Amino acid sequence: MFKCLLKSTMASAFVVGVLSSAAFAQDAAQYDAEGQLKLPTDYREWVFVGANTSPHELNDGKAPFNEMRAIYIDRDGYDYWKTNGTFKDGTFLIKEVMSATRYEGTTGNGYAAGDIVALAAMVKDSKRFAEDTGQWGFFRFPKMKDSKFFTNVSGKYGEDRCSYCHEAAASETDMVFLEHYPVLRDAQGTGISGVPVKPE
Ligand code: HEC
Repeated sequence: MFKCLLKSTMASAFVVGVLSSAAFAQDAAQYDAEGQLKLPTDYREWVFVGANTSPHELNDGKAPFNEMRAIYIDRDGYDYWKTNGTFKDGTFLIKEVMSATRYEGTTGNGYAAGDIVALAAMVKDSKRFAEDTGQWGFFRFPKMKDSKFFTNVSGKYGEDRCSYCHEAAASETDMVFLEHYPVLRDAQGTGISGVPVKPE
């Protein structure tokens, strides 16, 4: 009797668990009533895929963008990429752009990340962005005037501002600059994260 009760309690706990996780599972990309993309404030807990910098000193003293960048992908998008090797609908990439500052440290002279200066995003969606190149929507969360804060929603940016450049230089890799992202390159379609240790 007790066993039976225990079993049915466990079974219903399981059902509730499955139902509630399904009920709460939602795409990383959420939009407000006007169709503006909301900035997910937990993106620093997503999968970090790579970083790059283009400082003044390597660009004849005047880099077009004297920045450091850190790129993140949402967890579902990464899992799908890892298994299938392509970006699924709903894939959400965020580029956090920081100022590049010089420092002299114990490991030598270097560049470190300063304040965040821009937040850019791309979302793949074959329905919502059916007309856009590669079915990617481009967004940029602007910094508010005289504030350290960024707006937390963004309208879509047109081809003339964003996708023309991605299309010109990264069309072979679905508009994403894969050459900068070892975490994506190593995992693509392998089913494993590609950490370079000898498999068991
Ligand atoms: C002049 C070319 C150019 C333009 C214009 C441009 N990008 Fe990019 N974008 C890049 C390059 C190159 C990278 C790779 C990282 C880096 O060097 O900044 C990149 C990376 C990104 C990434 C990270 C994922 C990826 O595709 O590699 C996002 C997100 C992004 N850009 C969004 C935007 C948005 C939003 C706009 C318009 C507001 C924009 N980009 C305009 C060249 C461009």
